[in-house]
Amino acid sequence: MVKEEKKYAIVAGSGLQEMAADSAGQEVNTVFGDPSSPIRELLFGDRSVLFLGRHGDDFLIPPHKINYRANVKALQQLGVDCIIGMNTVGVITADAHPGEIALPDQLTDYTHDREHSIYDGTNAIVNVEFTEPFSGALRKALLAAAAIAKVAVHNGGVYAVTQGPRLETAAEVDRLERDGADFVGMTLMPEASLAMELGMEYASLSLIVNYAAGRSENAIHAEVDASTLAARAKAVAVLAALFDADA
Ligand code: HPA
Repeated sequence: MVKEEKKYAIVAGSGLQEMAADSAGQEVNTVFGDPSSPIRELLFGDRSVLFLGRHGDDFLIPPHKINYRANVKALQQLGVDCIIGMNTVGVITADAHPGEIALPDQLTDYTHDREHSIYDGTNAIVNVEFTEPFSGALRKALLAAAAIAKVAVHNGGVYAVTQGPRLETAAEVDRLERDGADFVGMTLMPEASLAMELGMEYASLSLIVNYAAGRSENAIHAEVDASTLAARAKAVAVLAALFDADA
């Protein structure tokens, strides 16, 4: 259902890397260094979509060490117009649950010390407007795809991006909630703002895999595996509907 002339890429993380594990990849070099892994192709019917695993093939690159600049630049060099950032999150607010998926419409960035901009003193600075961090058109297309796939999606919400790799304390989650956050994850930034700087559309397809710290009686890791599988199946169904040319 998405337009044929636009080129799409999925950047994915925990629990999602295996989506493209078997396909051949291409190595891409950028002025910012090498992306996390070769860039692979995913086929949805006869539609080809690029795929990049942000934690690397061996899953060794933690959120604060990912070369976000190289990842996003490599996709730009391959002619990508639209990036769907898939990521896992903990849920802070009450009306969403592990195993569900969300399309946040805002973010707050709590990360630090990440190479977060293409503007590094060698090129003329542009202060990109980031009022709306996600592409409205891409979010709309994902919501329409979810409706076709009959998958319920939490439409909107604030994604708080923390530094990781440790999870938060309960007090930190309380603070995030006071700040208006609904979800917490570690990898949305600076991926989203780099996409904006490099002129690409970006949306976050977030898999809710746990209740955030202090929000459940259970240990966080106890619920992650089953929730990741359930949420991933929903996200893949949405993507299949999005890229199904016949839909
Ligand atoms: N906090 C931060 N990042 C995450 C979480 C969380 O609870 N769950 C998945 N990614």
